[in-house]
Amino acid sequence: MSEKKCYHMSPEEFRRYGREVIDWIADYHENVERYPVLSPVGPGEIGDSLGTEVPARGEAFDAILQDATERILPGITHWQSPGFHAYFPSNSSGPAILGELLAAGLGVQGMLWSTSPACTEVETRVLDLLADLLGLPEAYRSTASGGGVIQDTASSAVLCALVAARERDSGLRTNRQGCDGSQVAYCSTQAHSSLEKAMGIAGLGRANLRQIPVDENFALDTASLAAQIRADRAAGLRPIFACATLGTTSSNAIDPIAAIGRICREEGLWFHVDAAMSGTAAICPEYRHLHDGVEYADSYCFNPHKWMFTNFDCSCFWVADRAALIGALSILPEYLVNDATRSGAVFDYRDWQLPLGRRFRALKLWFVLRYYGVEGLQHHVRRHIELTRRLAGWIEADRHFEMVAPAPLNLVCFRHRGSDELNERIMKELNGSGEIFLTHTRLNGRFALRLCVGQARTESEHVERAWNLIDETAKRLRRRPT
Ligand SMILES: Cc1ncc(COP(=O)(O)O)c(C=O)c1O
Repeated sequence: MSEKKCYHMSPEEFRRYGREVIDWIADYHENVERYPVLSPVGPGEIGDSLGTEVPARGEAFDAILQDATERILPGITHWQSPGFHAYFPSNSSGPAILGELLAAGLGVQGMLWSTSPACTEVETRVLDLLADLLGLPEAYRSTASGGGVIQDTASSAVLCALVAARERDSGLRTNRQGCDGSQVAYCSTQAHSSLEKAMGIAGLGRANLRQIPVDENFALDTASLAAQIRADRAAGLRPIFACATLGTTSSNAIDPIAAIGRICREEGLWFHVDAAMSGTAAICPEYRHLHDGVEYADSYCFNPHKWMFTNFDCSCFWVADRAALIGALSILPEYLVNDATRSGAVFDYRDWQLPLGRRFRALKLWFVLRYYGVEGLQHHVRRHIELTRRLAGWIEADRHFEMVAPAPLNLVCFRHRGSDELNERIMKELNGSGEIFLTHTRLNGRFALRLCVGQARTESEHVERAWNLIDETAKRLRRRPT
């Protein structure tokens, strides 16, 4: 027998290096404001610094960690910086990171209830608890006809909803034979691009997505929706699905959920609500009205990985009728057959999502809910909204700037009066300063700056500093126009 070799990290080494990594992360969070928020590196810089071969012999862990600091960190855009105001946030927190670590440590793959009962049951319970917290309809509970599941992203959630709608409409025929091009879906012109992508992936065809006009607040116009459904039926098509957005990506517009829901109910459409970021606000009773009309929805999704201190990826997806979802996605090869599944007494979450395998994502969410409690979550959400209102007030009071959309929650869309070019230059200068990072959109054909307040540690001094920087940059550019 040859000598027994082992290249694994021993438990003792794991303990030592694990502490180093936790310290590294704690230092990073403590000092994150020292780094330029938007990474200044150019294309290829980081990749070129990494070497071109896998080392023939394993390296010391300290050397690997040092390289992470020296070679990786410069190419990081610091989403966890309080100066991060771009896109929508993807925030995190201590309890979420530690929950994630525990999930990695357990290393379970929860495709079936039987492959780790806790992985499934924690998820089911956490989603029931969250449904209570957000005031979601009774039907969404696992104890009723529906239930919740954690997806990787809102994009996967809307794809699952669309496939369930497709199969409900066709009586499972499209699953067997493919689509015939007659099924159409609806959203506003402001809906997230993930739905259009899902139409292609689901075989329904991107051209069969009707993008309905919006009103002056960028919310879907329900009269146009009803008219389009009628026109499609008259043309021999089959309207099957509509998506309302609670907080559009571009401007945080809120579609009239109840009115869209009633149309869907009357017309027999699957109704999905995409509340990717803004659904979090409903944790606070004063914003619970945002969910008025969700009782009409067949499915609903929001991302704790955006604005609920739970690191990416964690997208919560509920359905009112789980049989419709499972019927569309379930497939049972012999090698997965087991007694628990056969008994019908358990959820096998592989039937609620696109992939087979799944991580124990519920653990980090459970840690977050328990660590913050309702009070902690409400506090931070309210604070972000309050800070956003303050910023909107400063913008409105400045004659050089104008708001270009309502700011119902934690996003402001605004512009400097004048040309698009001036606004683009303001944004580039701000992002080049390394102090803050914000992004843009186009509303009514005009370039608009977007500033989102949702990073876990963004406080009043950060929002004040952001506004001062915007003001100073604008003044400087007004003094030296090109
Ligand atoms: C309203 C809305 N829906 C869907 C998405 C897609 O999110 P994900 O990255 O989870 O797929 C986003 C992303 O910002 C969004 O703002």
